[in-house]
Amino acid sequence: MNGKIDTRLVPAEFVAIADAALCLADGGLVAFPTETVYGLGADATNGIAVARLYAAKGRPSFNPLIAHVFDLTAAKRLAVFDAAAEKLAAAFWPGPLTLVLKKRAGCPVAELATAGLDTIAVRVPDHPVALGILSRLGRPVVAPSANRSGHVSPTTAQHVLDDLGGRIDFIVDGGPAPVGVESTIIACLDRPQLLRPGGLPREEVERVLEGPLEDVPSGLLDPGAPIAPGMLESHYAPRARLRLRVDRVNPGEALLAFGIRLPPGTENAAIVLNLSPGGDLVEAATNLFSDLRTLDQADVATIAVMPVPNEGLGEAINDRLARAAAPREG
Ligand code: TXA
Ligand code: MG
Repeated sequence: MNGKIDTRLVPAEFVAIADAALCLADGGLVAFPTETVYGLGADATNGIAVARLYAAKGRPSFNPLIAHVFDLTAAKRLAVFDAAAEKLAAAFWPGPLTLVLKKRAGCPVAELATAGLDTIAVRVPDHPVALGILSRLGRPVVAPSANRSGHVSPTTAQHVLDDLGGRIDFIVDGGPAPVGVESTIIACLDRPQLLRPGGLPREEVERVLEGPLEDVPSGLLDPGAPIAPGMLESHYAPRARLRLRVDRVNPGEALLAFGIRLPPGTENAAIVLNLSPGGDLVEAATNLFSDLRTLDQADVATIAVMPVPNEGLGEAINDRLARAAAPREG
């Protein structure tokens, strides 16, 4: 994208929400808070706005976007709900759950936003600012996490400004995102399958489905298999190397701790942040991306990360940590 845009950062008051909706209606790019992370929104029905959004993020255009809608009625204009999808939407919307469904005939979302797939990802966010914008605009808004491709997701307006300032029109500041990790993505195509662990714990989904939630077989997660293109992205990647499940800290490493029992060597760490001293996974999720950013800015070669239990929100936390630790694409 050439030419720097003057990015407006505005507190989430009534007027800002109205302005944000007008900006979207004009084809603008607006970052706004949801309960999970900040999203970068564009009018989903405006192909040019969607193209600008990909350009601002520096995101490969084969990666489809989530359409955010005000409620279930609006979602049903875009997608076909089977019985499982109905059940999940009734139980968890508004909330940190994205459903991948068959696209409805006549769905007004721009082809580019769904990357030419015959499926569409939809969600109803549980945040007053996001819902305010959606109700004012009266159209679906596609919104990936509001970070440059290759960076961790933003949980504050300041993170968005650091990453996308000069590239987008508007940032609505609604304070820190309360959940802190992205939505859980479940495909309901022939049967429910987990595409991405996230802010809605697996255990809660399984309670509603009254059975175990199937994972997508890893063989499907290649570029030729469109079911879960997002699973490929190494888009949770800090600059520093991550060393996971450490039981000791090497001198000069940063430590990302969890719980009160810190490992040997902690006294020689360059910097220590604790996701949750009390061992609370909900608190840890809230702090995850923000702490990764802070440690990465401390200019260390390696971030040592203590083990995090793989239950509740721990599954999403461990998924994001594993991606952040994975080798980079390019
Ligand atoms: O919490 C969230 O979900 C945040 C907030 C802003 O709503 N959004 C978010 O969007 O995380 P994004 O674009 O960073 O991640 C969406 C994921 C991508 O991995 C994408 O590949 C996947 O959803 N996705 C979208 N449409 C899909 C489809 N039709 N089939 C499979 N995966 C899809
Ligand atoms: Mg993202």
